[in-house]
Amino acid sequence: MRIAVTGAGGRLGTSLRSELVGRPFVDAILAWDIPEHDLDDPASAERLVRRDRPDMVVHAAAWTDVDGCARDPELAMRRNGVATGELAAACALTGAGLIVISTNEVFDGTRKDGAGYGPDDEPHPINPYGASKLAGEQAARRAFAEAAAARGATDSRGVEPQLGIVRTAWLFGPGAPDFPTKILAAARRAAQAGEPLKVVGDEWGTPTYTVDLARAVVGLLESGRFAGTHHVVNGMFATRSQWAMYIIGRAQLDVEVEEVPSTTWPRPSTPPRWGVLEPTALPTGPLRVWTDAMAEYAPMLLARSEA
Ligand SMILES: NC(=O)c1ccc[n+]([C@@H]2O[C@H](COP(=O)([O-])OP(=O)(O)OC[C@H]3O[C@@H](n4cnc5c(N)ncnc54)[C@H](OP(=O)(O)O)[C@@H]3O)[C@@H](O)[C@H]2O)c1
Repeated sequence: MRIAVTGAGGRLGTSLRSELVGRPFVDAILAWDIPEHDLDDPASAERLVRRDRPDMVVHAAAWTDVDGCARDPELAMRRNGVATGELAAACALTGAGLIVISTNEVFDGTRKDGAGYGPDDEPHPINPYGASKLAGEQAARRAFAEAAAARGATDSRGVEPQLGIVRTAWLFGPGAPDFPTKILAAARRAAQAGEPLKVVGDEWGTPTYTVDLARAVVGLLESGRFAGTHHVVNGMFATRSQWAMYIIGRAQLDVEVEEVPSTTWPRPSTPPRWGVLEPTALPTGPLRVWTDAMAEYAPMLLARSEA
């Protein structure tokens, strides 16, 4: 298979490319990113799909600055919503399959029964980033449905191109500064000042390791059973403050974590308070619990932060 990855230089894109290297089912890895692949350019996705003729595209590119999206919802909708529809239309028309990476922020986080959100739960975003990502999911589904209807039954290879939506949450891993990197820097500053570190204690989610997520997505690709909506996160969940405490413990820093409500720092974007996703079944089995993934990542994180 010729597999294209959008947002190829981003945190997840980088892990996806590493995970695809050397896989027997992969003929070529096509890395698409700015400036060639531009979410602001309505013609960019179709141009690349026609030029590179991928069998599969994994769409990891997005405008992930949630506060930026809240300040400019129209641009968020263009980049995360409309551009996903354009890519999906180009894929569906040329017979390429597509996996769209989406987010827990399509849910409002008001669930009270302690269970994670499943794929059948009704999305209801409460911020422009979540709204734009949900619009992207919907535009992709529409494009594949319209292409299938226009084609009649099957494409020239006798196989209907498939669409998968993979929702995930709270990504961490090598690449751009993630929550663990930022918390570690803040904890070091607090330790030097001899002050407690204030961290939000009323926002729940599942920290998810990009390496594990990439492995799961590649497993879905390899199995060929990626159609539909999947919730792919590491096991268990935590509050932001619990995640911070774990990181501070691994770094052996003498800092007290003071749990504060999310209203302490008003932000342009309101995150869902209960952002927990219920993991769906995967051909490669469930992802390990997030603390085990963090334990693998911690030496890399600490080495990088000390460099
Ligand atoms: N980060 C999270 O916690 C999280 C949680 C749930 C879901 N997700 C989803 O997971 C996916 C990957 O996230 P990530 O954390 O890997 O994000 P990331 O590190 O911010 O990477 C996003 C990628 O998209 C590219 N991009 C940004 N604006 C673009 C534009 N206008 N045109 C073309 N490409 C553009 C970026 O390029 P530059 O680096 O050059 O800007 C980068 O390669 C996204 O779909 C995101 O919505 C992320």
